[in-house]
Amino acid sequence: MQLLENIPLAPLTTIRIGGPARYFVEAKGVAEVQEAVSFARSRDLPLFILGGGSNLVVADAGWPGLALKIAVEGIDQRPGHDEDGNVIFDIGAGVAWDKFVYRAVMARCAGVECLSGIPGSVGGTPVQNVGAYGQDVGETIVSVQVLDLKDGQVRELCRDACGFGYRSSIFNTSESGRFIVLRVSYALTPEGKPRLAYADLKRHFAGRETMPDLAETREAVRHIRALKGMLIVAGDADCLSAGSFFKNPVLSEAQHEDLKQRAAARGLTVPSYPALVTHKKVSAAWLVERSGFTKGYGFGHAGISSKHALAIVNRGGATAAEVIALKEQIQHRVEEIWGVHLEPEPVMVGF
Ligand code: EPU
Repeated sequence: MQLLENIPLAPLTTIRIGGPARYFVEAKGVAEVQEAVSFARSRDLPLFILGGGSNLVVADAGWPGLALKIAVEGIDQRPGHDEDGNVIFDIGAGVAWDKFVYRAVMARCAGVECLSGIPGSVGGTPVQNVGAYGQDVGETIVSVQVLDLKDGQVRELCRDACGFGYRSSIFNTSESGRFIVLRVSYALTPEGKPRLAYADLKRHFAGRETMPDLAETREAVRHIRALKGMLIVAGDADCLSAGSFFKNPVLSEAQHEDLKQRAAARGLTVPSYPALVTHKKVSAAWLVERSGFTKGYGFGHAGISSKHALAIVNRGGATAAEVIALKEQIQHRVEEIWGVHLEPEPVMVGF
């Protein structure tokens, strides 16, 4: 294990914000992960696990303990099929997520094509049950290999044990901090059809006679994401973000009624889509925009993406303090006008 000191974390995040880690280790295998954990324990250092850094805001003061970057590589397709006829892929937590999606699509395996172009690493996907365009990873993950920090054992957790929900799992709720994800196994459908459930995707293919294949669906998703600044494109200022900054709030019937009335009083209609309605969710982006935070809104060196109201961006030289101040301003205004509390989606470290 190579132990580094005072390593800036900002370059390891997509929003490019945050101070240094007191100690830093990049672990390529289980043994290195275990060694790094032992080191942190022996010195009583707080431990922070870093993946792809795409859903992360690090404090300006950085991290006082050990930042452990999981760099376990490898995409292995198991020979044959499982009992359901699926193809199983075992992927190292450090693999770039979109590299795996590309491999799966090229192998004509369905199940993750709508998750094309999402930044970050494979190890982060089960943690927040990554989802987009009508698919989430909780549907296709069969098991997650973890290091259990409780007893130092490597374990294989099956899908049910992961407790997947909307942007949640045991890894970011009940068992937060207990497990380090080492490898994730996905079950995909060979020669499967793409999932074309989401309005944006249907619109993209409207008027087509033939069914798009997985590769075309992947390209369509990447295209739609790019239009929203949700695809990392070199040189695009809207890409210095942590993705969606707020979760789409899940409302009760009464809360939804209240929201509709507040909208009507302003001559507005709360947008509704099947994908949102089934989970009783409302669009956080809509609430943000209708609270005075329009696309391109500036706040010091931070601001809102010019392509999507839900992304807070670093407009160059932004501090974590500015991002947090903007986040609080948005939460306050949305709550005041719409009576809805927005919960942030990114992981906040060192605050
Ligand atoms: N909208 C606005 N203003 C905007 C953008 C969107 O009012 O600037 C409204 C529109 O009515 C729009 C609706 O919000 O039709 C939904 O927007 P979009 O389809 O972009 O989806 P989203 O709810 O903003 C969610 C996920 C994304 C995922 C997309 C596509 C959350 C918090 N976000 O975004 O996931 O890619 O759907 O499935 O669940 C992420 O979690 O980081 C993420 C990018």
